Amino acid sequence: MSATMRSMELVPFKQKHIREILSWIKSETDMIQWAGATFVWPLTQKQFREHLKAARLEHPTLYPFALEKRGKIVGYCEISDHRRRYNSAMLSRVIISTRYRKKDFGKFMVKQAMQYAFGDLGLHRLGLGVYVSNKSAIRCYKKAGFVLEGTLREVVKVGNSYWNYLRMSILRKEWEC
Ligand SMILES: CC(C)(COP(=O)(O)OP(=O)(O)OC[C@H]1O[C@@H](n2cnc3c(N)ncnc32)[C@H](O)[C@@H]1OP(=O)(O)O)[C@@H](O)C(=O)NCCC(=O)NCCS
Repeated sequence: MSATMRSMELVPFKQKHIREILSWIKSETDMIQWAGATFVWPLTQKQFREHLKAARLEHPTLYPFALEKRGKIVGYCEISDHRRRYNSAMLSRVIISTRYRKKDFGKFMVKQAMQYAFGDLGLHRLGLGVYVSNKSAIRCYKKAGFVLEGTLREVVKVGNSYWNYLRMSILRKEWEC
């Protein structure tokens, strides 16, 4: 592991960082690419705080994380939709601060989240969804070990166009290899 990666860690997300995350999302298109239909534009801190309530349930379905580099937040992601009965969850709302992209931080964060999902939560399956046009995210997920499951055609309307959506997943046995 490089010195840069050694200076980074995935930690539980703190609400005081919401403003920082929102500053990385400049438009409705950015928001949809990042979070699908979770939020309504304009994205507010209130919406984000509401969304995070699922992390405080007696049996949480959401685990929000910050990627920190020497204490400074540079990324955010979630394990969401935790279904205890099926040992499955989703990797969601993955984002790296604009100025830190294309430096392998995304791949590092995804791998750390997988460690939590399979190692700590004991999951059998971790899924995700990503829009077809999002080449950097798809490459990042493939590099981390996710495999393609299929395409949902023209599921959201952004401006005048409809976006296709890919489903990907990784199973425990694939993560263990
Ligand atoms: C998707 C995202 C998290 C990736 O993070 P990142 O730190 O830039 O990704 P990495 O540097 O770890 O790159 C992973 C791979 O993707 C490649 N990649 C990065 N940007 C790319 C681009 N624009 N086009 C093609 N490949 C790209 C990298 O080269 C790397 O592949 P490699 O190991 O073969 O070199 C980041 O771009 C982001 O925050 N995007 C906005 C929010 C978003 O779309 N989130 C995904 C929601 S599903």
